[in-house]
Amino acid sequence: MKNKPISMIVGTGSSVPSKVLSNFDLEKMVDTSDKWITERTGIKYRYIANNGVVTSDLCSDAALKALEEAKVLPKELDVIIVATVTGDVKFPATACYVQQKIKAVNAVAFDISAACSGYIYSLTLANQMIMSNNFKTVLIIGGEILTSMVDWTDRNTCVLFGDGAGANVIKPSDGEKGVITTYIKSDGQLAHLLTTPGGGSKFPINHRTVEQKLQFIHMEGREVFKHAVKCMSESVEKVLQQANMSPEEIDLMIPHQANIRIIEATAKRAGIPMERVLVNIDRYGNTSSASIPIALDEAKRNGRLKEGDTVLMVVFGGGFTWGSAIVKF
Ligand code: ACO
Repeated sequence: MKNKPISMIVGTGSSVPSKVLSNFDLEKMVDTSDKWITERTGIKYRYIANNGVVTSDLCSDAALKALEEAKVLPKELDVIIVATVTGDVKFPATACYVQQKIKAVNAVAFDISAACSGYIYSLTLANQMIMSNNFKTVLIIGGEILTSMVDWTDRNTCVLFGDGAGANVIKPSDGEKGVITTYIKSDGQLAHLLTTPGGGSKFPINHRTVEQKLQFIHMEGREVFKHAVKCMSESVEKVLQQANMSPEEIDLMIPHQANIRIIEATAKRAGIPMERVLVNIDRYGNTSSASIPIALDEAKRNGRLKEGDTVLMVVFGGGFTWGSAIVKF
């Protein structure tokens, strides 16, 4: 017996900045090569925000496209959730700036911080809020300008990340389509392996923290890789179990786009062939919380995802945080 969906995604949208940075551009900036980046990560290009573009700009653009598809007016929104670790400012929430920009005057707006996993956490929360019957129309957005935290002299990290946003409008299910189940998890013991240490209460920005480059992303790449494969594989298994489904029933898997080798290893362990796995990391790089909703929007708009398809989304990120969701479209 399959779970009956409570909420459904009625509109998707995405937005990326206009500037594109290729591996060949990066060759001129650090000691790297197109060959190394392509073979080790699968990335060829990434979008980079120009000075002056802020996270809420990309989020608002993605949101308006999702609202248009959903035929929902901004004033009809009850909730706006933005998943980001690169908000416009420390506070208030980036969701409040999105509310201001799209004129969603009746919404409650707040951010959640779950790094790359933020979109799946937001989807889980939106589903629960709709289940509560207190909220009817929820906008969730994963949006990042990760390049604002990138050390452009560190080849270990600067080749990996890109900017963008992806949005979903979520409403009560029609009883057939929608969120079948979600699974989320964290392990704070491993927080130090992927972090931007500076700029918070632990290391407020000052000359010394800037000299130590604490305002940039610090990552133990190999450790992150190992845990990503393990936790994403576990997430696929758990969410299939919860939904009482087999891998054969999944039409499309949309994994977090961090590294093609992580994606391939997760798909192999899950028993889902690569023909049924969405990969767009070559053009976007790792856009953190925006990665899955951008891929989802792209799949819907280019016909890769069709009505009636069942999609499994799976993610891993800083925290560590991880999770998965099965959604019928
Ligand atoms: N160009 C050329 N050489 C490089 C580069 C680069 N851009 N970056 C690292 N290297 C070198 C290293 O210095 C090292 O050289 P050494 O052997 O002389 O010390 C060598 O390449 C191998 O380095 P590794 O770290 O072992 O390379 P690995 O195969 O693990 O790939 C990578 C590194 C791509 C970071 C990988 O570990 C990875 O993707 N990890 C997951 C991290 C991730 O995706 N983080 C994003 C956020 S979390 C998430 O979204 C999952």
